[in-house]
Amino acid sequence: MGSNVAELPLRLDADRARVNVVLAALFDDRSMVAPRLEAAMAHGVLGGGKRLRALLVYAAGRAMGAEDDELDPGAAAIELIHAYSLVHDDLPAMDDDDLRRGQPTVHRAFDEASAILAGDALQTLAFELLADAAHPHLAAMVRTLAGASGREGMAAGQALDLQTVGDRLDVETLANVHRHKTGALIRAAVRLGGLVGAGESDPRLMALDDYGAAIGLAFQIQDDILDVVGDTLTLGKISGADAARDKPTYPSLLGLDGARAKAQGLLEQALDALAPLGDAGAPLEELACYMIERDY
Ligand code: IPE
Ligand code: IPE
Ligand code: MG
Ligand code: MG
Ligand code: MG
Repeated sequence: MGSNVAELPLRLDADRARVNVVLAALFDDRSMVAPRLEAAMAHGVLGGGKRLRALLVYAAGRAMGAEDDELDPGAAAIELIHAYSLVHDDLPAMDDDDLRRGQPTVHRAFDEASAILAGDALQTLAFELLADAAHPHLAAMVRTLAGASGREGMAAGQALDLQTVGDRLDVETLANVHRHKTGALIRAAVRLGGLVGAGESDPRLMALDDYGAAIGLAFQIQDDILDVVGDTLTLGKISGADAARDKPTYPSLLGLDGARAKAQGLLEQALDALAPLGDAGAPLEELACYMIERDY
């Protein structure tokens, strides 16, 4: 393959820095109607996070021939949606978590109403950012991001996740929850990059979609594994929270080894899916390995 694995951490850091500049600029020098709301939004989206969804937009976009500056709006928009999903995921009515990215969660640092509104406003800001970019494939990009976020994507998955607390699910039912609550946005990140690079009719978009679907599920399996084996300091969120809340997870259903084997199988599926991209797929290959081998 055409790229050097040793350069990966540097490239990821550069892409993180890139999207962080775009995100920080959204809060610069504004005359604010509601400063406390904006402070809560900034707390939710700035100053932490692996930025994996943005990294996927950049890697998929470049693989399809896009320029970095064309990819910035999609990369930042998906991180805004992701940040909103985390702010709401942590609320007392949902997972009731106090720590996120090594900081107090938004409802702890501010208050519940501010966290609800910050999530709402982060979500709409994502679409504002995309609209301002006025890309030729804007309509397809909006449809992709909205579809992955709402009643057929993340929000649906979150609803299923909360409904199934305490249940013993079969693996396919759990996979369906994970594919929606987490897989959908990861899949959308890959597709957004592909759309910017090549538009909707390029046949390589199907390969990207298979890749995104496989790593999207594998990513949540690894999140479940880390909740068991990780420590709070490294994770930046409280470990053991799933078991404490009786959440159905891959380790609770299949054991740690079974969950790891499942993630590994999906990683291989993701790598196989990249074959039609040839050498251009190498950075996506490395990113997939990183997403599954990460320890936070
Ligand atoms: C955490 O996502 C929530 C899931 C969907 C599993 P990440 O692990 O990508 O969180 P950050 O953005 O790096 O904090
Ligand atoms: C999160 O899943 C999925 C989202 C849509 C945010 P989790 O509830 O497992 O994520 P963490 O472990 O709190 O980050
Ligand atoms: Mg949750
Ligand atoms: Mg949670
Ligand atoms: Mg989790």
